[in-house]
Amino acid sequence: MSIAFLNDEFMPVEQARISPLDRGFLFGDGIYEVVPSYAGRLVGFAPHIKRMQQGLAAIGIKHEWSLQQWRDRVDTLVQRNGSGNLGVYIHVSRGADTKRFHAFPDNIAPTVFMFCYEIPPSPTTDASKTKGLRVNTQQDLRWQRCNIKSTSLLGNVMHFQQGYADGYNESLLFNRNNHLTEASSCNAYIVKDGVVFTPPLDNQILPGITRYMLLDILANDGSIKVEQRVVSMDEVKAADEIWLSSSSKDIAPVIELDGQPVGNGNIGPVWEKAIKLYSQHKFNY
Ligand code: PDD
Repeated sequence: MSIAFLNDEFMPVEQARISPLDRGFLFGDGIYEVVPSYAGRLVGFAPHIKRMQQGLAAIGIKHEWSLQQWRDRVDTLVQRNGSGNLGVYIHVSRGADTKRFHAFPDNIAPTVFMFCYEIPPSPTTDASKTKGLRVNTQQDLRWQRCNIKSTSLLGNVMHFQQGYADGYNESLLFNRNNHLTEASSCNAYIVKDGVVFTPPLDNQILPGITRYMLLDILANDGSIKVEQRVVSMDEVKAADEIWLSSSSKDIAPVIELDGQPVGNGNIGPVWEKAIKLYSQHKFNY
C-alpha cells in the first residue's frame, strides 16, 4: 500500500482526505512536481524543488519550506514506500477556503500532498531493448503560461487523450505558426545531420528538469551539438530523429510520426550516445 504525505502527516494514500473547498480541487489552483527516484536515489531533486518554488511564487502561493525541509520529508516518504523505483508526486495547492470565490483568499494554509507510485527501473541505454514511441501532431490549444507547472492540466490531458485514443504514445504540439512547442507531458527535440534542436524556453513550454540536465550534460561533454531555437513542423517531419524527455520517460526516442517513419524508422545513433551520457550523469543533479 502506498504511503502518502498530507499536511505534515504520513498515512496510507487511501486514507488521505482533503476538503472539497480546496482550491486545488475547485480551480486547479496549485503547483506540482514529479521527481523520479531509482532504488532510493532521487534524480534532479534540487532543480525540481527550485522550479516548484518559482511556480508557487509566480501564482502567489506563500509556502516557506527550505530545500532541506522538503528533502527530509521526501526522503522519509521514499523510505516509507520501500525505496524502490518510484515516481514522487509533490503537490501544493492554495488551500481550502470557506466559499467558492475566484480571488485569492487571505490567510489560508496551502495544502501539501505527496505520494509515490512505482515506475520501471532506470531506462536501458541499449537501443535494441528500447521501444520507440509513436506520436501524432496536434495544434497546441493550451494556455499562454505553459512555463508554470500548474495542476490545471486539462489542456494537457485533452491533448494526451486525443493521441492515446488513436493508439499513440504521445502528441507533439505546434503553435499557430506551426512551430513545435513540446509534447502533452514531455519536452521535445529533433536531430538533423547530427545536431540536436529544441525549442527555446519561453511561455509556450515547461522548463523541464530532464531537459535542463540533458542540455547541461551534452554541453559539458561537447561531442553532440545542441541548438535551442524555433523548430518548424517541416523540420520535425524531415528530422533524422525525434526525442521526448520527462521525469517519467527519461530521454525517449520516437520512431513514428503521424503514421510515417521518423528518419529510417529505427532508433537513431545520436539518441544512443545521448542516453548513455544522460544515464551516466543524471544522479549528479
Ligand atoms: N510531465 N512538458 C510538460 C507539459 C510536462 O508535463 C512535463 C513533465 C515535461 C517534462 O518536465 P520534466 O523533465 O521536469 O519532468 C515537459 C510530468 C512528468 C507529469 O506531468 O507527469
